[in-house]
Amino acid sequence: MPSPFRLDGRTALITGGASGIGAATARVLTDAGASVIIVDLDEAKARELSASLERSSTRCFDITDESAVEREFAAIPKLDILINCAGIGLVGSVTETGLADFERVFRVNVTGTFLVTKHALPLLLKNRGAIVNIGSVAGMIGVKRRFAYCATKGAVLAMTRQLAVDYPTELRVNCISPGTVETPFVEGYLHKYHAHELEKMREELNARQPIGRLGRPEEIAYLALYMCSAESDFMNGAVVPIDGGWTAA
Ligand SMILES: NC(=O)c1ccc[n+]([C@@H]2O[C@H](COP(=O)([O-])OP(=O)(O)OC[C@H]3O[C@@H](n4cnc5c(N)ncnc54)[C@H](O)[C@@H]3O)[C@@H](O)[C@H]2O)c1
Repeated sequence: MPSPFRLDGRTALITGGASGIGAATARVLTDAGASVIIVDLDEAKARELSASLERSSTRCFDITDESAVEREFAAIPKLDILINCAGIGLVGSVTETGLADFERVFRVNVTGTFLVTKHALPLLLKNRGAIVNIGSVAGMIGVKRRFAYCATKGAVLAMTRQLAVDYPTELRVNCISPGTVETPFVEGYLHKYHAHELEKMREELNARQPIGRLGRPEEIAYLALYMCSAESDFMNGAVVPIDGGWTAA
């Protein structure tokens, strides 16, 4: 019997592919035989990762810039898999959130996902492609002082389900909702907001997830691999938490 979860001959594009969950997904998908296009704002990191991965290339542009998104997709001949992973965070309750910050988080997490999906769609429809959106537990439950971030991730979950309804046989679209995962995103948050109490905060983040630790980027990446492989053909419009039991508690 052939090994499952192989992606030989398939081309995947990963936004936010230079760091954290996106970078782990680039590694796992190339290991499974896919060719991977790493999309990121951070050109140096994207190139460094690509140099270590077979069958990978980079395209460095801002996913919130429609003319750039349109131009980049026009130059891609074939696409089977889209991983919408680029995203940013914001700490604050509703009263602590300013309009400019609210709009900035929406622009990356929601508008960026919309634009990339829209311009990738003609290519994906040719091959009955698969989209994997990276949502968050923050789109499923309320997380304290994450007003704007929760709202954006709720929108990512909603976009996933809506697309699955419009294209039920033409493509597949699913969403992963990770709990807190050890990535530069979380390290950046800790250093920005809790530099004076790093260890205390790390313990609090661990304790928030019943398993008692943070997730590892590879653990998210292997779920993404499942969601874009032929073995998950019956899965469509699903939102799957992977959070050490956080949302089960
Ligand atoms: N780390 C976590 O705990 C966690 C938990 C749940 C969900 N997520 C989600 O997972 C995704 C990846 O998070 P991560 O922790 O790997 O983050 P990360 O900060 O390590 O990586 C995100 C990447 O996205 C890129 N990016 C940001 N804005 C961009 C833009 N406008 N255009 C192109 N690229 C852009 C960044 O340059 C960066 O390389 C995000 O959507 C995040 O919301 C993360």
